[in-house]
Amino acid sequence: MSLKDKEKWDSKYDADEYITGKEPSGWLEENAGLLDGNGKALDIAGGEGRNSVFAASKGYEVTCLDISENGLRKAQTLAQEKNAKITTVLADLDNNSLKENEYDLVLCFNFLDRNLFSGIRQTLKSGGLLFYETFTLDYLKYSSFKKEWVLEANELLQAFSDFHILRYREVDENPKAFASLVAQKP
Ligand SMILES: C[S@@+](CC[C@H](N)C(=O)[O-])C[C@H]1O[C@@H](n2cnc3c(N)ncnc32)[C@H](O)[C@@H]1O
Repeated sequence: MSLKDKEKWDSKYDADEYITGKEPSGWLEENAGLLDGNGKALDIAGGEGRNSVFAASKGYEVTCLDISENGLRKAQTLAQEKNAKITTVLADLDNNSLKENEYDLVLCFNFLDRNLFSGIRQTLKSGGLLFYETFTLDYLKYSSFKKEWVLEANELLQAFSDFHILRYREVDENPKAFASLVAQKP
């Protein structure tokens, strides 16, 4: 499964153009006031690095983790372009666990692996922030996505219900539908 994912993403990223763009996710940028820039950040399935580079520009020591070599190569190129420093780690999240109590900030955008929820909870330090945004059930109206790739209504809220929820929204605006969360580990 993961080898197929790797091939799929390496092939998608095999072009000079940045398919997810060079600018950070709107959700990250709009809520950047919550980022104090102190400590370590992990960008889960960070792809071409747009959010990693933004977090690094805010002062975090950022690790961008992804299964795609092509994605991570482009992430480093973007970091150089924007005079930011990031560390890239090639890893398959299906077979790797996240270190406990390691990060002050975790970013996860457009990626869903429910088995990772517990790893995210553990890898964040107390007081650490989670930014999570990905597609919801409504997105199936506009795409050929599979049901297991999308969130149920309120699923992120429930998965991190013991965190302090700082921001949450669900958006359904053709052609996109997604949920966005910022939450702080107690
Ligand atoms: C839709 S992209 C999102 C990229 C980035 N988070 C963003 O929003 O710009 C999904 C990413 O998940 C990565 N990915 C898929 N399966 C993975 C796995 N098993 N382990 C690590 N990364 C994976 C892909 O390589 C791809 O970069």
